[in-house]
Amino acid sequence: MNKQDIHSFELNKDLWERKEDETWTEKYPELGTGPIDLERAVSKEFFEVEKEAVFRRNWLYMGRVEQAAKPGDYFTQEVEVCNTQLIIVRGKDEKIRAFHNVCPHRGNQLVWKGHPAKETSGHCGRFVCKYHGFAFNLDGSLFRATDSQNFFDDQAQTRRLAEVPCEVWNGFIFINLDPDGPKESLREQIGEFFWTGLDGFPFEAFTERTVSVGTCKSNWKTLMDAFTEGYHVQYLHFQTFRLHTMGMDEVNARMQHFSIHERNHVSVTDRIPDEMYSYDFERMMQAHGAAPTVKPSIDIEDLPPAANPTRFKNWGNSTITFFPNFVLQFYYPIWWLTYRFIPIAHDEMRFEIAHFLPPAEKFSDLLSHYSFLSIMRDAALQDVNTLEATQRGIATGGMKDGFILQDEEFSIRHFYKTIFDTVDEYSAQNK
Ligand code: FES
Ligand SMILES: [Fe+2]
Repeated sequence: MNKQDIHSFELNKDLWERKEDETWTEKYPELGTGPIDLERAVSKEFFEVEKEAVFRRNWLYMGRVEQAAKPGDYFTQEVEVCNTQLIIVRGKDEKIRAFHNVCPHRGNQLVWKGHPAKETSGHCGRFVCKYHGFAFNLDGSLFRATDSQNFFDDQAQTRRLAEVPCEVWNGFIFINLDPDGPKESLREQIGEFFWTGLDGFPFEAFTERTVSVGTCKSNWKTLMDAFTEGYHVQYLHFQTFRLHTMGMDEVNARMQHFSIHERNHVSVTDRIPDEMYSYDFERMMQAHGAAPTVKPSIDIEDLPPAANPTRFKNWGNSTITFFPNFVLQFYYPIWWLTYRFIPIAHDEMRFEIAHFLPPAEKFSDLLSHYSFLSIMRDAALQDVNTLEATQRGIATGGMKDGFILQDEEFSIRHFYKTIFDTVDEYSAQNK
């Protein structure tokens, strides 16, 4: 199948069109319409298996290549759920590699500033251990073992950093911590639809990267739920994105496209029409260049196929959910963001939200970008606050029948199915 066929709307018309009286849910009858077994999904027992089956045995997103743009640039990433911290570094040969952040002499954490649990970044020619001065090249090989004549045989000379499989797709860096080595390539995990379907999008041109990181007392999946459905936006974010209405129908904020591609999926919603926001917000968006009246920086027709599979004319947003814990969103008039959800315990997580905006050309652009980002942060705080309340609700045990999902929350139904399937398959193989 060539790329044209994969993304041909004609080829998938039955699947991708929804008539007035149809639902997205009924297009995937294997997912059913019943409640989700919430108690199981957020339990301590489930989390113990989830760590192994989902996080230790699949490709995990770590960051962008621009974070290690030049040879010698590096950044560290804490992966609590797999009990490790990694160094991601660009070598002299330009290759991006990942290593466990541990010195193979006596196990000291190799790279850190201030406190070892804190992530850091920088530039260096080689990594030198603070403890006894062993030094390692950017490709993980030994540069120098101090007092080497006093070690036995070639034990010191053969030490090197423990490398972790690392692959890059469209500038997104992924690692795999499977103790037996990756069971599939990153390409297989992403799937053909998305692997080629975002080709040509100039991710690297959106140079204003702003990252917000925080922790939240909730299961990681419940925050992922909140960021992959638009149903809650008009209610929970009423003060942040103030609209003149509280009705989903009036703003036509419903999913206009939804499609599943193996363990991943994409949904598309409309643009919010002109003059639907209350005055101040609309003016703010106008300043940023994100208002409905602003001309898009890329023609909607030129969006890569997987970001708008049906070439929907009134495109406003695409949300692509990548198994297991990475979400990529595109917004009109073309900027994008990523979400990462990193579990710490069954009821605690860390999240990272990264906005990627076009470069500011004038000081006023910069001001409007920061005003806009502060609105987005307010919205994220509303999500996180609510989530701690949701987690408390779940912990009461008063939701015995699981949670129910309407058609606009269908992405959540598919997400849980992929997690349950992965955990069940692993459990069956490791009885
Ligand atoms: S632990 Fe790193 S040099 Fe000894
Ligand atoms: Fe939200």
